[in-house]
Amino acid sequence: MAEIALRNVCKQFDSEHYGVKDFTLDIHDKEFVIFVGPSGCGKSTTLRLIAGLEDITDGELWIDGELGNYLEPKEREMSMVFQNYALYPNMTVYGNIAYSLKIRKVPKEEIDKRVRKVAQILEIESLLDRKPAALSGGQKQRVAIGAAIIRQPKAFLMDEPLSNLDAKLRAQMRVELQKLHKQLDTTIIYVTHDQTEAMTLGTKIVVMKDGLIQQVDTPQNIYNHPVNKFVAGFVGAPSMNFIECEVEKEFDKTVLIFVTTGPVKKIYITGPNAAILQRDYIGKRVMIGIRPEDIYEYEEARSSGFAENSVGIRETVVTREMLGAEVILYFDEQYKTHAVRLEPSNQTKVGENIDLYFDPNKIHVFDIETEENILHLYRKGY
Ligand SMILES: Nc1ncnc2c1ncn2[C@@H]1O[C@H](COP(=O)(O)OP(=O)(O)O)[C@@H](O)[C@H]1O
Ligand SMILES: [Mg+2]
Repeated sequence: MAEIALRNVCKQFDSEHYGVKDFTLDIHDKEFVIFVGPSGCGKSTTLRLIAGLEDITDGELWIDGELGNYLEPKEREMSMVFQNYALYPNMTVYGNIAYSLKIRKVPKEEIDKRVRKVAQILEIESLLDRKPAALSGGQKQRVAIGAAIIRQPKAFLMDEPLSNLDAKLRAQMRVELQKLHKQLDTTIIYVTHDQTEAMTLGTKIVVMKDGLIQQVDTPQNIYNHPVNKFVAGFVGAPSMNFIECEVEKEFDKTVLIFVTTGPVKKIYITGPNAAILQRDYIGKRVMIGIRPEDIYEYEEARSSGFAENSVGIRETVVTREMLGAEVILYFDEQYKTHAVRLEPSNQTKVGENIDLYFDPNKIHVFDIETEENILHLYRKGY
């Protein structure tokens, strides 16, 4: 069991460099929590603070109701898995997995039972006699995980454990890690810079930037209700499209007008979002965000019921990616390339024009200055 709580935790390396600032989070027993963010945002530092490999500069770490700031790493009973597998090259797979029990003087039969059980879970029974040099990357990583789980710690701390694997193996290991989490029934704190990994693995995602937490939520809420432009752009592939618009009123309608030269491109907004924009943003500029799958062609927009109230935005296709189940078209706007995800039957070719309809209910609006999600701020709950 592990209830881990961080309260305003800071790590300051020197007068200028912070690893993490004011980090407050509750990690409940058996949760699969992901720390995600770009390189250098403080993920590893936070994990190392929890493990006791770094000292906390300020704030509190609570482990199962006990103040943990000054506990020795081994007293915290946590097990770490790193990106580079950290196996002993001269020991066999069996020896590597058994090592932590051996130094704790666990009886031989007990060790044997547990090694075999772990090997069975990770499907590496046939590798037990090999040395690490004779293993593939994926196999090494399984052994490293085996060495970590054999101890039955309070929590597993994993720092980019799949980064050295190729894409296919990574996808496979993602599935296995989820199974493993169910089987082990333990808390896992998992660090990654890869948003796909975060979205697929976690039940709770902590998005970080520059040592600060941006948002803590379920994958679905992070995706659908990002609190700011950074989170919005960080999750999802292809990324959310961002276009600068001016908010205007046309009779009783709220309209977003693209900031661009040439023909006017506009989107009508209705419902509660319109009311929020009318109240505070008429005549002002905002940054709108829309995901590639929330942009449609006329026929789809019409059947979804929002084509009547909008005007198609005419764009020229600059790149086309046929992915089998979908086609992704790219167009340039405001000197950036944007993506639209359409039905694979769409035949629009590079160089041709297409009229695009933005689903007004799926548009996110960000303040130009603060980059906060304007609509999110006003929404009560989700
Ligand atoms: N020992 C250290 N001394 C000084 N700065 C450090 C040290 N370790 C990490 N940092 C800095 O702290 C920040 C966060 O680093 P880290 O936690 O490793 O990021 P991440 O794991 O998200 O890539 C970075 O700016 C990094 O340069
Ligand atoms: Mg790191």
